[in-house]
Amino acid sequence: MKFLKFCSVLLTLSWLSLANGAMADNNGEVLYNQYCSVCHGVIGQGDDRWPGLNDTGDMTAPPHNEKGHTWRHSSDDLVKMTLMGYRDPYNATEILTMPAYEGLLTEHQVLSIIEHIKSWWTPDQIENQRKLNQ
Ligand code: HEC
Repeated sequence: MKFLKFCSVLLTLSWLSLANGAMADNNGEVLYNQYCSVCHGVIGQGDDRWPGLNDTGDMTAPPHNEKGHTWRHSSDDLVKMTLMGYRDPYNATEILTMPAYEGLLTEHQVLSIIEHIKSWWTPDQIENQRKLNQ
């Protein structure tokens, strides 16, 4: 009887740690900090030089907060830009200044990152972006 109880505790514990792992995998804030903050800033403030260019004449990382224009894109477009990468046609080099995350992040994970980014937008920006998604 004691042994059975022990097993059920063990099962519960392993289930809990699995559930926790899955949640961390899909936590927009954790993922943003891991994959995006180095260029776009921990609080979405963007590169210090933005909207200026970097040393090679390419666009610097724009802010994702209320000062940026991220909210002017539908969530579908934001997912596409993140998975496929992006470069402004006027950049001096041909490299994807915004790297492609396909294979590293799932669409679901990018959507959680976008949810985190939305926490920096004004209520008006959130409402306007919501309309783009319809
Ligand atoms: C190596 C630096 C770098 C990293 C890391 C990076 N970005 Fe970017 N990102 C850029 C640059 C630079 C641009 C501007 C590209 C251009 O206009 O040529 C950009 C542009 C964007 C844009 C389009 C502009 C906008 O705000 O509307 C989105 C969306 C975006 N990034 C999302 C992300 C997300 C989400 C992550 C993390 C998964 C990420 N980026 C990680 C450098 C980076």
